[in-house]
Amino acid sequence: DWTMRAFREEEIAKIRAQVGKGRVICGLSGGVDSAVAAVLIHEAIGDQLTCVFVDHGLMRLNEAEQVVDLFRHHYNIPLMHVDASKQFLGELEGVTDPEVKRKTIGRLFIEVFEQEAKKIGGADFLAQGTLYPDVIESVSFTGGPSVTIKSHHNVGGLPERMNMKLVEPLRELFKDEVRKLGRELGLPEIFVGRHPFPGPGLAIRCPGEITGDKLDILRKADAVYIDQIRKHGLYDEIWQAFAVLLPVKTVGVMGDGRTYDYVVGLRAVTSTDGMTADFYQFDMKFLGETATRIINEVKGVNRVVYDVTSKPPGTIEWE
Ligand code: XMP
Repeated sequence: DWTMRAFREEEIAKIRAQVGKGRVICGLSGGVDSAVAAVLIHEAIGDQLTCVFVDHGLMRLNEAEQVVDLFRHHYNIPLMHVDASKQFLGELEGVTDPEVKRKTIGRLFIEVFEQEAKKIGGADFLAQGTLYPDVIESVSFTGGPSVTIKSHHNVGGLPERMNMKLVEPLRELFKDEVRKLGRELGLPEIFVGRHPFPGPGLAIRCPGEITGDKLDILRKADAVYIDQIRKHGLYDEIWQAFAVLLPVKTVGVMGDGRTYDYVVGLRAVTSTDGMTADFYQFDMKFLGETATRIINEVKGVNRVVYDVTSKPPGTIEWE
């Protein structure tokens, strides 16, 4: 893609001019945006960049391993991988309010990130995969000027606290352009094409209290759902698809026995920027097959429902 090749060259020059001989630190979330930003910056300034991946234990199945593998082995980019899952789950114990969850995760993320940054002697710049819609989001919610619908989790607050300047090479791009740039930079398709994933991770897909057991069930159900979507060739048509684990048990019957297990909600939407979205119209056969697979393959689930709410009035995530 010609435009992206030109953009890549331009941004590399800009990053070099901005950073000089300074040190840059970049937080990886496991998502496309921060990965593309990191690879681009690494191309510009090499080992002046250190990446930090704070693993909050709220990632999807095998996701943490994929991030580490991509950076360390595929690109050979210096990466600090912090497994902070015990700390996050510990602090989230008993927390059920969505905003308290988000704020707890955001605060801990900053604390852990700061500790790691200290280990390498700090940095002059903080790199972020901020996109154009992120830049305008704060002013463009439908609820009016100052209505916070959800506190977005990012590393906001860190730059001032740590006295760092921001490097945000993707600020002018939309998601589809970031994907093009990622391909241009040679990121594997499985990474580039991946659906967006929120900073607070599975915590906001597990309404009510979060426990390790619930997260395990959710991870497995989500993996079966995504596998079904990929097998049917639907993954790239969908903006985002994921499972939600409801904090409710319902009665079912399996074999000759009564069951009393959790309900899984399935969500899939089409969208161009996440600001508005339509629920995806699967055919019923697909949904039925997926429900059967989830119930057969995931212990602890005996009922599956599909979310037919668009945004607005629903948000994409459930919390
Ligand atoms: P909602 O649920 O507000 O989500 O309709 C819109 C898009 O934003 C993602 N999302 C987040 N992304 N940090 C993020 O980086 C967050 O805290 C966060 N909350 C929601 C969501 O997955 C969807 O793509």
